[in-house]
Amino acid sequence: MNIAVVYQSRGGNTKKVAEAIARALHTAAWEVEEAKNLDCDLLILGSAVYAAQLDKKTKAFIDSLNGTSAKRVALFGTSAGGRKPFGMMRKALTKKGLPVDDRDLFIPGAWTFMNKGRPNDQDLANAEAWAKSLIEG
Ligand SMILES: Cc1cc2nc3c(=O)[nH]c(=O)nc-3n(C[C@H](O)[C@H](O)[C@H](O)COP(=O)(O)O)c2cc1C
Repeated sequence: MNIAVVYQSRGGNTKKVAEAIARALHTAAWEVEEAKNLDCDLLILGSAVYAAQLDKKTKAFIDSLNGTSAKRVALFGTSAGGRKPFGMMRKALTKKGLPVDDRDLFIPGAWTFMNKGRPNDQDLANAEAWAKSLIEG
């Protein structure tokens, strides 16, 4: 199975999760700006939330996709917890005609005084297990 792990991260929280996912699947994690001309079986896309929005780089990445860029998309994301990124991502991806898996992975990300130390080792282990579950069966 041809898998692409792609993420957006300003502060490194989402990057840590992306790298754990990539490690579990024996592949590499790419920043949204680096991932071009995708043609894969499974796109695992991760993003964070800033002022209740997706980063504009995430929006531009999704905009660059078409209905054949991936046979299936699975979403992961981090935020302080007030807002999760999945609704916005799913809406934009669905508009592109891309099928999005129901199994999102949310990991709380450290921000100011919130979620200190997250993602932690347990979060990263959960991310690895989630990634493996996506390719089983
Ligand atoms: C400028 C800024 C705005 C943020 N706004 C929100 C927000 O509206 N809702 C929320 O739940 N988290 C918010 N957060 C927290 C981030 O989503 C969280 O720290 C996330 O893990 C950051 O991921 P990153 O380190 O990969 O960039 C904000 C963080 C920053 C830096």
